[in-house]
Amino acid sequence: MTLQIAALASGTGSNVDAILACIAQGKLDARVRMVLSNNPEANVLELARAKGIPVWAHSHKDYASREVFDRAMREAVDESGADTLVLAGYMRLLSPFFVRDFQGRMLNIHPAVLPSFPGVHSGRQAVDYGVRLAGATVHFVDEIMDNGPVIIQAVVPVNFADSEEDLMRRIHAMEHRIYPQALQWLAEGRLKVHGRRVDLLPAPESRGGLLASQGAGEQGPWMVSPALEGF
Ligand code: GRF
Repeated sequence: MTLQIAALASGTGSNVDAILACIAQGKLDARVRMVLSNNPEANVLELARAKGIPVWAHSHKDYASREVFDRAMREAVDESGADTLVLAGYMRLLSPFFVRDFQGRMLNIHPAVLPSFPGVHSGRQAVDYGVRLAGATVHFVDEIMDNGPVIIQAVVPVNFADSEEDLMRRIHAMEHRIYPQALQWLAEGRLKVHGRRVDLLPAPESRGGLLASQGAGEQGPWMVSPALEGF
């Protein structure tokens, strides 16, 4: 069923852009009803406005508490007609009531292979730690930051010459594929949550395979699990 998306973002918006591109290409059965931000200066708002998408942009600093801010945002989400929340670089924890109300309908993307490197600066942490593999995770949101059931993960290599920016560029390229893919699976009703585990139900015409898929790019092969289906 067509997802009616409200996207929450605080920054650049490259993931929102990738989602919009996949919708435009007919790969993702969704519509972005609204983009919401706690940062009125965020680039993602320009991007949304340029595409005629309604925006809600207010600084959380102008509200008495997290809960008051989240209730105002929640009202806007309800009025937009959205049924699915997409966190795309939204840099604030959401109130428990918000998370509960959208359980199973709220996704987040994190630039690390969770549970490694939750929180901010995960690219910096990966480079400093000296890991040889890094990546990105799309997961359902629960009340703990970067913690909910994992839908899809992508792995990319880390080279010793990499700066944080080099690594983040590589990670972002995979994010732009796995986030629309996860949303398309949600639209197809193929994600079933069992505790911490998310089963991907087969597509009607499924080839039945999971695991490795070749990613294009200078460092391939990159691994994505479950395998991408056309993203
Ligand atoms: C992404 O790296 C995402 O994983 C993290 O915030 C970043 C947002 O980037 N949660 P963008 O604003 O979508 O370009």
